[in-house]
Order: sequence, then structure tokens, then C-alpha cells
Amino acid sequence: PEAITVGELANRMAERVADVVKALMQSGIMATQNQSIDADTAELIIEEFGHRVTRVSDSDVEDVIDSVDDSEEDLMPRPPVITVMGHVDHGKTSLLDAIRNAKVVSGEAGGITQHIGAYQVKTDDGALLTFLDTPGHAAFTSMRSRGAQVTDIVILVVAADDAVMPQTIEAINHAKAAEVPMIVAINKIDRPEANPDKVRTDLLQHEVIVEKMSGDVQDVEVSAITGQGLDELLEAIALQAEILELKANPGRAAQGAVIEAQLDVGRGPVATVLVQNGTLRQGDIFVVGEQWGRVRAMENDQGKRVKEAGPSVPVEVLGLNGTPEAGDVLNVVDTEAQAREIAAYREQVAKDKRAAAGAATTLEQLMAKA
Ligand code: GTP
Ligand code: MG
Repeated sequence: PEAITVGELANRMAERVADVVKALMQSGIMATQNQSIDADTAELIIEEFGHRVTRVSDSDVEDVIDSVDDSEEDLMPRPPVITVMGHVDHGKTSLLDAIRNAKVVSGEAGGITQHIGAYQVKTDDGALLTFLDTPGHAAFTSMRSRGAQVTDIVILVVAADDAVMPQTIEAINHAKAAEVPMIVAINKIDRPEANPDKVRTDLLQHEVIVEKMSGDVQDVEVSAITGQGLDELLEAIALQAEILELKANPGRAAQGAVIEAQLDVGRGPVATVLVQNGTLRQGDIFVVGEQWGRVRAMENDQGKRVKEAGPSVPVEVLGLNGTPEAGDVLNVVDTEAQAREIAAYREQVAKDKRAAAGAATTLEQLMAKA
């Protein structure tokens, strides 16, 4: 049964709690701030205060956040989003660092402090690439299970002195399940014991047939230490991106995915959001998972304030009312009322689910005891 506390009802109507309590009393109901009233009573009170009643459902939420259909002529090319995956110590972070240090447009190479776990790189021919530094496969899986398909291309890093390992296989399975194309980066090619052909043969057993084995998965020999092959790797990415013909509509209300989020002591909840469609602007009202907010400020991957962020751009967003989870989808909506309602609705749905799950276990435990 739907219910709402008196305090929350007052909050959502932007009325004083005392006034709501008084109105309830006049209808013969004695209730304090933290007590719940049923939906029908709430509706009467809402109307009494001259507000409009909207009962939110799944389809209402969809109507609000999917109200824009992108027509073909609104679609513009967008940068590819690339995630680096592979076994522990095979050189994922080193490879990303090497690419960033070689390519980030900045005065002093190597002096770039990574501000957020996602960043953009400009290649020599001016193309932008967005890299996600998502740690481990768990984050990737949790994002995928939450419906956030964030990556366009997976770079599978395999160390040439170690060959295919359990987490390599996991990464292959993740990429396949998500139907994301892979590029194999055979790393540590500078090592004397490097055996890139062993990597290629190993991969065959997992149905990854690289170009050198007459397959169609691009493979590049690289070294994160010497920088060998980095340009070829970037070319391979550019080629793959071209095939994908990635597009988005920068003119619509933004939709994005949370890459990471935390509660910052000084700044409140902070989320790194990858904009996937539309343009996110300062002042925009949004709902993100069970949270909502208004963009107070945004910073790009280099810690610079920005007023807007278009498709495939990662930004740090301030102005949330709570901390969302990685993989939560962000949608810009028209009004604060919509944002509040959707967030509250989702919170309620989640609560109900947890309650149902709790009840089920209790019942199971009872059965087990009997
Ligand atoms: P995890 O995040 O722990 O899974 O590891 P990772 O895949 O990010 O590997 P990381 O970049 O931390 O590199 C692991 C070790 O390999 C470090 O000591 C690196 O210096 C070394 N390494 C990485 N790439 C290369 C390379 O191309 N050549 C050589 N010789 N060493 C490398
Ligand atoms: Mg690492």
C-alpha cells in the first residue's frame, strides 16, 4: 500500500509541516511529522493546498525522461568511449598513463594529474577519444547490470611475457556479453621474454581471432614503458570508431551514466558523469538513480570549470541531493517537481523490493526451522 510521511508530503508540496498537520487535524486525522498517511488521504490534502496530484508509475518516468526522439538530422558524430581491461599487472594503468602523457594537450608532458577516473585525449589528427579508467571488471559488470552501457570499445591488454590469464578470459566474456568490439593490445613487448605469438595462439582458444591470425580483431604490439606501438594503438581505435559510426544528439536534454560517485566532506555528493547523449549544462535539473539535483558546477578531466558537457564528455558534477551509485543513469528533466517525484518513486520501489526480499528470507528461514 502506498503511503507517505507527513514531513515528506509537506516537503514535496513545499509547504510547512505545521500547516499540513493542521489540515490533517481539520479532516479528523491526528498525525505528526514522521507518521505515515495513506495515498488517498495525501491526495485530499494535496488538493486542499491547491496542488496537482501526480501519482508516478514506471511509464510516467519513461515518459518524462524519454520524451525526445532523436531524428537523423540532429545526430552528430561523437568521440568513442574506450575501456581498458585485462589481467592484473598486465599494464592497463601504465598503458593509459602512457597514452595520456603522450597525447594530452598540455605544456609539460608527464605533469598531468588525473582529476577524475575518465579523461579525453586528442590524437595528432585532432580526433577526440574518451578513456574510462574503470578499475576492474566488477565495476564494468555492475554498470552493465544497471543498464548503463558506457563503453564503445574495449582494449584488451595482454602481457606478452605472461599470455592469457583468468582475468583476460573474464574481460573477453564481458566484452562479448556487452557486444562491444575489442582491440587486443599485446603489452610489454619490450621484455626480452616477450612472446606475442603465444598470446595470439592463446586467444584462439577463446574465440578471439586477431588479424595476424587472419581474424578480424585488431591486434597491436605495444610497450607502455618505451611507448612503442602507441600511435598504432590509437590508429586502431580510430579505425574501429569509424566503423561504429558513433553519433549523438547534442541538442537534446542530457542523458549520462555515473562512472563513480562519493560524498565529499567539503563539497557534498560528487559524481563523475559520462554524458552519453545531449548536452549537460550548469543549472540543469536532473534525476540520477534514486537521487536528484541541479548542476551547481561542473569540472572537466583537467579540473577546469566548464559550463556545459556534450556527448562522450566526462565531467564531475556538483549539486546532487544524495550520492548515486556507479552505473546509475542521469536524465535531465524540466522541473524540480518531476525530479523529486521520480527520485522519490524510485526510492520507494527500491524500498519495497528490499522489504519483499527481506520478507522472503524470513519466510525461508521459518520454513527451514519447521
Ligand atoms: P592492476 O591495476 O593491478 O590490475 O595492474 P595493471 O594492469 O594496471 O598494471 P600496471 O600498469 O600497474 O603495471 C604492472 C607492472 O608492469 C608495473 O610494474 C609496470 O611498470 C609494468 N609494465 C607495464 N607495462 C609495461 C611494459 O610495456 N613493459 C614493461 N617492461 N613493463 C611494463
Ligand atoms: Mg591498474
